[in-house]
Amino acid sequence: MMRASPKTNFAARSAPKPKPAAKRSAKPDPRLLDAEKFLLPTYKRQPVVMSHGRGAYVFDAAGKKYLDFLGGIAVNALGHAHPRIVKVIRREAARAIHLSNLYHNAYQGPLARKLAAWSGLDRVFFANSGTEAMDGALKLARLFARKPEEPAGTPPKKYRFLSLENSFHGRTFGAISVTSTEKYRLPFAPVVPGAEFVRFNDVADLEAKFDDTVCAVLLEPVQGEGGIHPVNEAFWNRARELATIHDALLIADEIQCGLGRTGRYFAYEKFSSRPDIALIAKPLAAGLPLGAILTTEAVAARVSPGMHGTTFGGGPLACAVALEFLKIVEEEKLLENICERGAQLREGLAKLAARYDFLGEIRGEGLMIGIDLSVEGAPFVAEAMQRGLLINSTHDFTLRLLPPFIITRAQVRDFLRLFEVVLSTTPRQASAPDSGDPAGPKRLAHAAAR
Ligand SMILES: Cc1ncc(COP(=O)(O)O)c(C=O)c1O
Repeated sequence: MMRASPKTNFAARSAPKPKPAAKRSAKPDPRLLDAEKFLLPTYKRQPVVMSHGRGAYVFDAAGKKYLDFLGGIAVNALGHAHPRIVKVIRREAARAIHLSNLYHNAYQGPLARKLAAWSGLDRVFFANSGTEAMDGALKLARLFARKPEEPAGTPPKKYRFLSLENSFHGRTFGAISVTSTEKYRLPFAPVVPGAEFVRFNDVADLEAKFDDTVCAVLLEPVQGEGGIHPVNEAFWNRARELATIHDALLIADEIQCGLGRTGRYFAYEKFSSRPDIALIAKPLAAGLPLGAILTTEAVAARVSPGMHGTTFGGGPLACAVALEFLKIVEEEKLLENICERGAQLREGLAKLAARYDFLGEIRGEGLMIGIDLSVEGAPFVAEAMQRGLLINSTHDFTLRLLPPFIITRAQVRDFLRLFEVVLSTTPRQASAPDSGDPAGPKRLAHAAAR
């Protein structure tokens, strides 16, 4: 069993002593009022202003301390204010934040080299976010599929995207077109044509939908927003085979599950084959916006200058930080910590599941964990916040845990203790009215397919 190294443990050492929470005044916070009046209402935000973080803790403006088991939705893999990240940001901010992609900067090439080594792929394009990486990948798939006799501008024969039910790939037009969840896609229809959804882990459905008109099959090796569902080996292998047979691309969306989250650099490493494209973002630049498309020489050979681009993607500051992030994961042996803390967490959760009958299946790998509930998750999230714990609920009936890679044994113990209090005190709301199982028919079908 690995003992947390002193470096891994910096979070515990540098966490400020808990301050008594400042008195909350009855007057509404003017910043919340501004947000309510001037922001587009795209989020159901908790009514709290967060102020700063240290390691695995976040503090709100009133001084209340939260143990962060959500990590900014899988972004803050090193927690907050990691000293090496702060140092690089300070250094680079004083040198050059942005230079443009018309010139080389000192970090893009070395970062691309390191990502190629981590992934086993050859070439990298830097974007600003996950969804931008996904849109770029869809463009590459169409480009790769276009035959020389099909001139640009004409509809190609090979244009269909196969994506999975329950998937989430982002919010831009390309990404919503291949995202199955209807509430993200249907309000904006018509979307990019050609996307179809395959039942999760259903090889027969994949085979039935695959033919020579498919240009790409895309999947999250572990579905994140969909409730932490790992794709199984049989499905991955068949997707790889069919993509090869039909000269289509296999795209792995590792935006949430990649870069160490599962205890491997890439979640797909547990399979014996690689994708043609892997997409990453979230933790890549430790909280600064940076995404990337990683691909093969064969795909890269179809790209020429001017076909794709971005203003901000791959800037020197973000790339320097990303390079440092990857080095920290290696040097601080965080993959080991992820595996060990993940196992500790799942073991503790299994004990809780034996005591609380509304807890169902516990899924996931490394520090990406989903806990099925037979009642709605939102009240548990709210109660956890009251008790100084940040977690999240996805798909209404699944609690999602995405703690930082630097989480310590003691912090996992604290989490389990606090989480039990949350489980025992949260008033349980009625399950979904229209189905015997609160998971709903959709989730049951999904679970059955695993
Ligand atoms: C699997 C997956 N793909 C794509 C995205 C979109 O990434 P971004 O929000 O950076 O655009 C997300 C975001 O949650 C994701 O989890």
